[in-house]
Amino acid sequence: MSGRLNGKVALVTGIGAGIGRGIALMFAREGATVIGCDINPVTASATVEAAATEGLTISSVHPCDLTSPVDAKRYVEFAAAQHGRIDMLVNAAAIPPHMASAAEMDYQGQWVPTLVGEVDIVFLATQAAWPYLLESGKASIINFASVNAFRGSSNFGMVAHCAGKAAVLGMTRQLALEGGPLIRANTISPGLVVTAATESAGGTQGAIRANLLARIPMKRLGSPEDIAWCAVFLASDESSWITGSNFPVDGGVLSA
Ligand SMILES: NC(=O)c1ccc[n+]([C@@H]2O[C@H](COP(=O)([O-])OP(=O)(O)OC[C@H]3O[C@@H](n4cnc5c(N)ncnc54)[C@H](O)[C@@H]3O)[C@@H](O)[C@H]2O)c1
Repeated sequence: MSGRLNGKVALVTGIGAGIGRGIALMFAREGATVIGCDINPVTASATVEAAATEGLTISSVHPCDLTSPVDAKRYVEFAAAQHGRIDMLVNAAAIPPHMASAAEMDYQGQWVPTLVGEVDIVFLATQAAWPYLLESGKASIINFASVNAFRGSSNFGMVAHCAGKAAVLGMTRQLALEGGPLIRANTISPGLVVTAATESAGGTQGAIRANLLARIPMKRLGSPEDIAWCAVFLASDESSWITGSNFPVDGGVLSA
């Protein structure tokens, strides 16, 4: 690897699975000091071990529930105490959204937890890390919206998910404004990425997969590494004049 993140201290949330795991490993390969966290101690430990088998070090705070302000602060303070600085925050942790239509969605049981698990979880970690990111002076926040911030789905009812992802997009633009010039903030909007969660939700198989592939110019679903390469760019000084922007990484689906 080329050391594009040498000397940077990165918080990566949700390292136990999917995109967070892919980014934590890629950032470590590119020379960053990575401090991860996850609510699931078993999967977070597995990522730490996977890094170790490559001769890399990832430290992790787990279990850590980022929907709790106390846990978000505990995570950030651990990293700051260990490393004295924080240069990047990648908010990849998210609770799988409840998939229901507007007609069927239960307000307390489905709408509220989806919004907390997609929006509050980003805000709380960001607020806890903010003073350290300001101190860094060349900080980068990377949040995850989705193609569903821009378009609905004919495969699933996802009214809360679409609202949550559009909220992350809007929040990130405001973070860019409030953070500049010391903190940059951008979103990545993935298309369908194959992870344990998207597989178990049935998003990557059968007729739904065929439907999706028909609309994707690149004719394949995404991998966590496809997303991680964009995150490396947004975390590095290569993107030092980019803030408040959104990067679709979706095989071209938004253009189709
Ligand atoms: N995978 C996709 O196809 C896709 C598409 C568009 C957007 N995204 C977005 O990208 C981001 C990452 O998605 P993913 O597919 O890697 O998700 P994932 O479900 O595979 O992984 C999320 C991780 O977050 C952890 N987590 C859940 N709740 C937590 C909490 N309260 N505190 C701390 N950790 C918690 C989980 O244990 C898990 O390890 C999310 O914001 C998601 O909405 C994903």
